[in-house]
Amino acid sequence: MTTLAIIGGTGLARMEGLTITRREMVKTPYGAPSCPIVFGEMDGQEVAFLPRHGSTHRIPPHRVNYCANIWALNNVGITQIIAVGAVGGICKTCTVGSIVIPDQIIDYTHGRESTFFDGGEDPVEHIDFSYPYNDRLRQALINGARNADGINVVDSGTYGATRGPRFETAAEVLRMARDGCTVAGMTGMPEASLAAELRMDYACLAVVVNPAAGTDGKSIDTSGVPANIAAGMENARKVLHNTLSSPDITA
Ligand code: HPA
Repeated sequence: MTTLAIIGGTGLARMEGLTITRREMVKTPYGAPSCPIVFGEMDGQEVAFLPRHGSTHRIPPHRVNYCANIWALNNVGITQIIAVGAVGGICKTCTVGSIVIPDQIIDYTHGRESTFFDGGEDPVEHIDFSYPYNDRLRQALINGARNADGINVVDSGTYGATRGPRFETAAEVLRMARDGCTVAGMTGMPEASLAAELRMDYACLAVVVNPAAGTDGKSIDTSGVPANIAAGMENARKVLHNTLSSPDITA
């Protein structure tokens, strides 16, 4: 039974090295997931893969059906999720190409369906979300990243989840820095809290693809971002391969 899933982000719509055994489009009470879940084997592990922006990267961050994606993964028996996402670096150590494994999150998103406890038949549950990321999965990712040559690894930090699809203003990033954010991304929430509502282990593998707005005193060089995404996701792939081939992940 496959219990581990990778949610792919921008630049990771396909999982190279995954030997695909089947695909399943799961029907959910929340509508359609981003695309069929792909099942297969990678580095000796059974793994499921779901690209959150769809297989052709057409779904913008604020339109991703996070409820459907997480419900679908839960429904097929997934209990642990590694969520890959592109981010802008806010703190000085988060240089382009760095891999960041955050341990906290601040939600600046709005207008997204963000809970399974939405006033239906079931009683409301106020879940504990003090520590949003699963420590065992985080450690496995940190070890996987450290074992990859030449990658700058930032082993903790706060992910600031913004609405997108535009990047932030310099003032917004300054406020996020004051709040303690290490990186800015557009997809970290409500994905993390929905996984927590369904008692799934969840960790984030964030890939820095640009300095966040204003942090280098300049506008974001949007023309350079695609190349940074390609290079950064290559780093993410290395980390995923190392992580999956290590015994940490099966614990
Ligand atoms: N901000 C928010 N999300 C992002 C960024 C950014 O600078 N870069 C990639 N995803």
